Amino acid sequence: MNNSRLRYLSILLGVLIFATSCSSGGGSEPEIELGAPIANQAANVTSSSFKASWSRVYRADSYLLDVSEDSGFASSLTGYNEKSLIALNEEITNLESKKVYYYRLRAVNGTVVSSYSNTVEVTTTFVPDPNLSLKKAADTFLVGVSVQSGKLNGQYDEIYRREFSSITAEWEMKMNVMHPSAGTYDFGPADAIVKYGEDNGINVHGHSLIWHNSTPDWVKNFAGTDQEFEDMIEDYITTVVTRYKGKVTSWDVVNEGLEDGSGNLRNTIYRQKMGDDYIAKCYQFVRAADADVLIFYNDYNMITDQTKQDAVFTMVDDFIARGIPIDGVGFQMHISHDYPAKADIQKATDRIVERDLLVHFSELDVRANPNKDLTSLSPERSLSQKAKVKEVVQVFNGIPNGNKYALTVWGLKDSETWLLDFYGHVDWPLLFDGNYNKKDAYYGFLEGLQ
Ligand code: G3I
Repeated sequence: MNNSRLRYLSILLGVLIFATSCSSGGGSEPEIELGAPIANQAANVTSSSFKASWSRVYRADSYLLDVSEDSGFASSLTGYNEKSLIALNEEITNLESKKVYYYRLRAVNGTVVSSYSNTVEVTTTFVPDPNLSLKKAADTFLVGVSVQSGKLNGQYDEIYRREFSSITAEWEMKMNVMHPSAGTYDFGPADAIVKYGEDNGINVHGHSLIWHNSTPDWVKNFAGTDQEFEDMIEDYITTVVTRYKGKVTSWDVVNEGLEDGSGNLRNTIYRQKMGDDYIAKCYQFVRAADADVLIFYNDYNMITDQTKQDAVFTMVDDFIARGIPIDGVGFQMHISHDYPAKADIQKATDRIVERDLLVHFSELDVRANPNKDLTSLSPERSLSQKAKVKEVVQVFNGIPNGNKYALTVWGLKDSETWLLDFYGHVDWPLLFDGNYNKKDAYYGFLEGLQ
């Protein structure tokens, strides 16, 4: 073969090698770089599905999606092991309720595959058994609701008997109703409520013997001596507690006796007439009338007002040290969908448990509209309220069974909450809507028990 032919062949070979090296990527042209996608938090989470989604990656022409029940992706859900997708999202279906799932993905371009995205954890929601009820689900404590004697029938009766194991008179077992004037008692409404509890095997919590906001005028204007005042209070407490002995399990003997902010003893007529130790005296009057009834101290803002909370436990510790009868502490729990934090509820509740006293979340309602930014309950705010109810129930359910008295909601349906008058604007703080329908918050209560 002559030289020119050899030269032609060697050039041809060099061109072929160069072309091959370029096309194989082994040569000077760099392999493309593919960034890892960013996996977003799951959306549209239901009891059996959720929507996975992720960011677009420059130069990616598809994605590989992994879905697993374990965070290490040792195994994958059928069909979700490197499932190739072009879209930036995927509806994952046929899942189990109340189960944790994980997903991640990689970007692809030809034979180039990116590193993994972040891993997203998602828990499908809980599907309650339609035959379940609050009281059936809460098998280690009483589930209470505040009631009024004129609404113990119809759908009230049906829901009370199905869902609740305790009732509290919203106002009809207070002094201004039961003892409207010196020497006269009106036990009509109280008797009706207590009888309803007895007839239906529902616990009755007494609320409340002494409260500055339900003091009858004749007591505020009492003209006798301090001792005569104290004798009158002892007589009132003895009369009421004796009447309901064995029927009313527990009493908020003194409600809201300490001031907001300072935690000082409120300067009520009871303190003025009976002295600074009036609360202890009232507890002793109750114990003398009924050796078994449970004696509670009940107050509000007990999670958020640290000074008042500290003052309550200083008082409780003093009672314990002096042998003054006290069985439990009631946190009213008039809270909001976004406040207080679960950790703060836990911390305050632990202080009751540390003293081995009974815990009563005694008046739970969860404002969905504390900042008046809504005119109707939005789906998002309803879910926020549900989450807070779930947190409250989780805290309560997590304490030792021996310290669980009751978790009582302050009203049955949104349209009848005291908050509407108190704050003067629309809100939806309870577990049932104005038409007696269960709300997300109701299911939050059940989920808190799982
Ligand atoms: O329904 C009757 C109506 O028929 C009557 O004409 C009218 C006139 O007096 O009274 C109406 O009843 C009122 C009832 O609320 C229903 O609106 C009572 O007077 C009124 O005293 C009662 O207020 C109650 C308030 O305590 C005072 O007792 C609220 O319902 C009740 O939610 C509220 O609950 C308190 C707790 O006991 C202690 N913690 C704070 C909580 C909220 O203030």
